[in-house]
Amino acid sequence: MIGQDIPEAKRILNAGELVAIPTETVYGLAGNALNPVAVASIFETKNRPSFDPLIIHVPSLVEAENYVNDIPAALRKLAEHFWPGPLTLLLPRKSNIPDIVTSGLDRVAVRVPDHPLTLELLAQLDFPLAAPSANPFGYISPTSPKHVDAQLGDKISYILNGGKCKVGLESTIVGMEEDEVVVYRLGGLDISEIESIVGKVIVKSHSSSNPQAPGLLESHYAPAKPFLLGNLETLIAEYQERNVDFAVLSLAQTFPAVPVGNQIALSPQTDLKEAATHLFAAMRTLDESNAVVILAELMPEEGLGKAINDRLRRAATKG
Ligand code: TXA
Ligand code: MG
Repeated sequence: MIGQDIPEAKRILNAGELVAIPTETVYGLAGNALNPVAVASIFETKNRPSFDPLIIHVPSLVEAENYVNDIPAALRKLAEHFWPGPLTLLLPRKSNIPDIVTSGLDRVAVRVPDHPLTLELLAQLDFPLAAPSANPFGYISPTSPKHVDAQLGDKISYILNGGKCKVGLESTIVGMEEDEVVVYRLGGLDISEIESIVGKVIVKSHSSSNPQAPGLLESHYAPAKPFLLGNLETLIAEYQERNVDFAVLSLAQTFPAVPVGNQIALSPQTDLKEAATHLFAAMRTLDESNAVVILAELMPEEGLGKAINDRLRRAATKG
């Protein structure tokens, strides 16, 4: 079922079952974070390895303090500025957070999502919602209720319909090491905005072996079809030569020689925020096209372009 019935969503969650929830970043697959059985069924439904910890969603910073200790001053400032919003903080967890949520780590990932329906739902619950993106593990994150329905619709009883996600990229994940603010995942909140509040930060988003973030796996967000990154003109010439059906994902450019239905420009005005909003839906559309391979280009390495490029690189076919 897809609908906007908050009492129904609440009833299902209170029973220990799962509901897909809208956020400004991507849709989440949500369950009671304090109930280890509900959390286990999130991992099972997504087919996600259980060493990959989950983010808990709360309605406010005040509510977050029921689940974490000693919020460092710099991170508190970030929460005050950017919550509700696409920012996740790694904070020392209280003992009421079950091990299965954090994969046994000392820190729990917390955020206040910026979506009116989900904020209303959270305000009515007696527990936080653990929620990874509502897609099968490794596939592209969902940015509309129909994306969720297409892949997990038969496994979950309710999808709360909050329309299309207005940011379209997962939250930026931030924590502290010693006295330094560290970004573990690039995302919908631009680094420059974070730096405008707390000064220079360190970015550690690429090491898949990083013990602080075991889930930030290198290959992720991937379409089923081969996804190749490079110079589009060169790639197009190569695949025309080979006589292979291809699809094209660009920032702004369109290619007269490629059928209209086989190409998507993320933002004809080269607005990287707009490009971020369209990215995952475009990857899905091209994955469902009749092409056998998707050709794509990197964005300029500035603003949200960095986070988009992170997703494009993780989606790219290796080797
Ligand atoms: O925008 C978002 O963050 C979305 C929406 C639904 O809130 N959620 C999301 O969740 O992207 P997920 O599970 O797909 O990605 C969460 C990432 C994982 O890579 C995980 O490894 C990392 O957060 N993470 C979670 N808890 C952590 C922890 N305690 N320490 C380090 N990394 C953690
Ligand atoms: Mg995910």
